[in-house]
Amino acid sequence: MSLIKNNRILDVLNGVPVDRTPIWIMRQAGRYLPEYKKTRTKAGSFINLCKTPELASEVTIQPIERFNLDAAIIFSDILTIPDAMGLELQFEDNRGPYFDNPIDNLEDIKSLIDKDITHKLDYVAQAIVQTKNKLNNEIPLIGFSGSPWTLSTYMIEGSATKEFRKIRSMVFNNPKMLELLIKKLINSISEYLIMQAKAGADILMLFDSWGGLLDTENYNYFSLNPMKEIISNLNNSNITKNIPIILFTKGGGNWLNSISKSGCNAIGLDWTSDISVARKIVGENMCLQGNLDPCALHGTEESIKNAAEKIIDGYGYGNRHIFNLGHGIDQYVNPDNLALLINHVQEYSKKYHKS
Ligand code: CP3
Repeated sequence: MSLIKNNRILDVLNGVPVDRTPIWIMRQAGRYLPEYKKTRTKAGSFINLCKTPELASEVTIQPIERFNLDAAIIFSDILTIPDAMGLELQFEDNRGPYFDNPIDNLEDIKSLIDKDITHKLDYVAQAIVQTKNKLNNEIPLIGFSGSPWTLSTYMIEGSATKEFRKIRSMVFNNPKMLELLIKKLINSISEYLIMQAKAGADILMLFDSWGGLLDTENYNYFSLNPMKEIISNLNNSNITKNIPIILFTKGGGNWLNSISKSGCNAIGLDWTSDISVARKIVGENMCLQGNLDPCALHGTEESIKNAAEKIIDGYGYGNRHIFNLGHGIDQYVNPDNLALLINHVQEYSKKYHKS
């Protein structure tokens, strides 16, 4: 039995009835919060913020103190793994994260460090330990990693590019090289997620932010199958075998049926999917997370409430929905609008939970 007081999200993930739809928000710790900006200034840089456990746990808690959220997500970035593997992560305010020397050839892949990766990522484990202490078992803590495909895009492109031509060409002109990179990432990501669970993460999430770039066959081969291997590694570890896994492929709406067979416990939906259709596709044993367009938060009080109700009505009666945005919240959102959304979801959804 879990010791966590607000157990709604874990209940949903385990198929246990809840009194209302639980809610958390992707990127809930971020620049739309003035208190985040303050801590980030104190840290000196985004990367320092990620690598200083005391400050990373401080910003993880900020949205929890401000809003009535049903989960925390550890503040970090998906690019911590490539950084630990030897591609030095850089960050510029107007450019976002990037690597100066992205992967170009087989030698680059062979020289990536994939031993003792968790040792180098100990700062994330420390941030989780400190966050769990601050959360005091009030709500669960989500740990996460990028998917092998999504991490490969950054490692090969150097940053989020417009067309992703280099990696999308590699799918066709050098698939063996890409396979080798993805194999290394499967191992590192599995170890990293096990490390996070050991440190105290209650739920694990795979962010496949760029899976939607691929055609169906290559999505299965280069993105979904590697995620399945990770899930199977987690199921085979005593530390993670009972930890629920959320799989989010942005742009994955066409592949919900195959994603539902991946072994994950919940599927993250972006806003382009109709949640009522998605529910029919994945069936009653799979949880859905999502899927409000993040830009809905720039609307009026009335339009925000309407947009949230459409999703809650679309899902209808049942206990397997975790409300979220369909992607991360952006830096220009007024935090008061998010408070309004959270309160409305929690109130309005009660009528669908007469358990
Ligand atoms: O959700 C949370 O509150 C936890 C924190 C979190 C961050 N990044 C913090 C962050 C999580 C879960 C991520 C994951 C992440 N990072 C993804 C997957 C999710 C997604 O958005 O698709 C990706 C693709 C990245 C890579 C990344 N990191 C990009 C493309 C950027 C720049 C975009 C932007 O918003 O500026 C980042 C930087 C980043 N990661 C910020 C935050 C709060 C903004 C950094 C800052 O200036 O302080």
